[in-house]
Order: sequence, then C-alpha cells, then structure tokens
Amino acid sequence: MPSFDFHCPTRIVHGPGRLPELGELARSLGDVERVMVVSDPGVVAAGHTARGIASLEQAGLQTRLFDGLRENPTTDHVDAGLAVAREFRPDAIIAIGGGSSMDCGKGVNFLYSCGGRMQDYWGVGKATGPLLPMIAVPTTSGTGSETQSFALISDAQSHRKMACGDKRAAFRVALLDPELTITQPPRVTALTGIDAIAHTLETLVTTKRNGMSAAFTREAWRLLSQGFPRVLAKPNDLTARSWMQLGACYAGLAIENSMLGAAHALANPLTASFGVVHGEAVGLMLPHVIRKNAAADGVPLAYQEVDAMISYPAGRDPDGAVEHLASFVTSLAAEAGLATRLADLDVPRERLPALAADATQQWTGTFNPLALSESDFLELYEAAY
Ligand SMILES: [Fe+2]
Repeated sequence: MPSFDFHCPTRIVHGPGRLPELGELARSLGDVERVMVVSDPGVVAAGHTARGIASLEQAGLQTRLFDGLRENPTTDHVDAGLAVAREFRPDAIIAIGGGSSMDCGKGVNFLYSCGGRMQDYWGVGKATGPLLPMIAVPTTSGTGSETQSFALISDAQSHRKMACGDKRAAFRVALLDPELTITQPPRVTALTGIDAIAHTLETLVTTKRNGMSAAFTREAWRLLSQGFPRVLAKPNDLTARSWMQLGACYAGLAIENSMLGAAHALANPLTASFGVVHGEAVGLMLPHVIRKNAAADGVPLAYQEVDAMISYPAGRDPDGAVEHLASFVTSLAAEAGLATRLADLDVPRERLPALAADATQQWTGTFNPLALSESDFLELYEAAY
C-alpha cells in the first residue's frame, strides 16, 4: 500500500439536536462578524436554514442568505453567489444543505477570496491565497463534501463537471446533526445514499488507497451497508440516519485520501450529456465496475473483506464474493427505486461510444485500479445497458 500523509483540517461535531450550536461554532472561527449562508431552496423550505440563521444571530452575528443554487451547481450559480458575497462582504461562509450547497459555498469562496473564474481553480491547489473560513451543515448523507477539499462545479456552457480542489477550501467545521437528514425527500435519500455506497466501494480499491483511507472506507461501509436498507424502509429511524450521516462523512475522508474510480468516470458523462442524476448514474455503473476491477491485483481480496461484512445466510462461498457484492449494489439501487439499466434512462444506445470517449477524459478514472481504455468504458456501458 502507498504511504500517506494524513491531516484532517475539519473539526467534526456530531450528534442529534446539535444545530443550535452553530452560532457558537461560527464564533469559534475567530474574528467573524458577518456570515454568508449558502443553502438550496428545498432545505430552506424544510426550515433548517432559518434555524441555523437564528442560532447565528443569537450569537450576535450578521447574516445574509444566498439560496440561488440548484442540484449540480454550475458556474452561473457560483457567479450569482459571488455577487451576493461582494455586496455583503462576509468574514465566513456557512453551507447548510447537501453537496450542492457545500460545493457552491466552496466555489463562491474561491472566487470571492482569490478572484478569477471557476475554471481557474479546476485541478488541485490552484487557490492563490487564503480563503474565508467555512462551516458545513450537511442535510443529506451522500457527497461527503463536508470532509473534502474539492468543489464540484459544472461549467454552465459545456456542462463539464470541474473538480476544483485545494486544501485551503476544506471546511473548518462540519456540524453533523442527523435530525436534519430526516426531512430529505425519499428520492434524495435514495440518490445520496447510493452515492455514498459508491464512494466506499471506489475508495476501497483505488491506486491511491492507503492504510488511513482503508480505515475510513471500512467503517463507512459497515455503517452504510447496514444503514441504507434501514433508512429506505424506515425514513424516521434516527439511529440509521446517524449511521448514514457518519458513513457518508467517513467516505468523504476516504475520498480525500484515496480519490475515486471508474464508476464516477462513467457517471459524469451520463450526467453531462443526458442529465442523469449523479447518484443514479454512479449506482447503475458501479456493479459493472466491480466485476471489471476484480481482474486487478489485490482487488478481489478487498471486495471479499467488505462482502463478508454484509449479513447474509451462512454457508456462502467466498469465491462468489465479487458477484455477490455487485448484485448487492444492484439490489440496493432497485430497493431505492433507482434505475438499474441504462436502457431505462432514455440514453440512446448509439451514443454509448461518444460517452465512452468522454469517460476516458475524466480525471477520477485515472485512480481506478485497472487502467481502462475507451473500449473498456464502452464495454462497461454496454453491460449496463
Ligand atoms: Fe459521487
């Protein structure tokens, strides 16, 4: 396994009913008086944003809400947030919401603090100076953006998803209150949950995986593989919601330390070209990637280890672990009401070669345990069709 250099810049505060601590946590950032809150309209409607703002104001802070963003935030959403930031002049940014709010908040921070356009930060370590301190208050359990230094922002013109990463863009604090995740619409629970599952199974085997990422991956898998079926069956189960929230957060830490793989490389073109939602795309492609990656050195053993953590009838055959794990992911997607075949998503079969060409251009695919060619990606899309 590769060596590692682990540093978590994010203080993680977890527990049900802790949202009212947000004001004091913001105060703990230091010289902060003006706080910009970034939130999406669904989270605002659920009332979480207002409760967060009330806590900030009780702590004597001035606040300004920006809620002009949508799912898969684009450069247009970031620019709209930037205009608010320039007028309000915040000392800190707080994202209350799912991955879209967290990523948009990071995007606004890059441009407000360092200038330029979002495209200038595409890649790693492109910030030109310090960024404003940020707090994440996730309301979904999926992206793990709260413990990552990456902002995923789509180019509004080309629809290309840009991963903009810089250690300075990491949140100073992640406030994880599982009560906030109970109000997620069922489809959001499904889409974000399967994405978190994909994050564990991709980080498990990347070329950059190491002892530290493996520890986060394993614990994330233990929590998510048990928690996901439970929250699908019983959305108000706070214990299972807690497992999902922590699992997604640990998977975020695993990504930060080991990156992702081919399921994400295959999912991004489906989102960019056909608007397939990220979680659905990644959950659909992942089982096929698991089968393919089993040809890489050491990977079958890694799959066997996590497969053994799924409870199922005694007497199973460890040699069948890869297929069992792949089928388990498909059954979770089906249980969650998500598509399990590309043919069901209005993706024309004749477009698969163009998608495969696009998949080869995805940076995330470079960390897959097997180097995949355009024809490999096409084979995987065909298998998923
Ligand atoms: Fe993802």
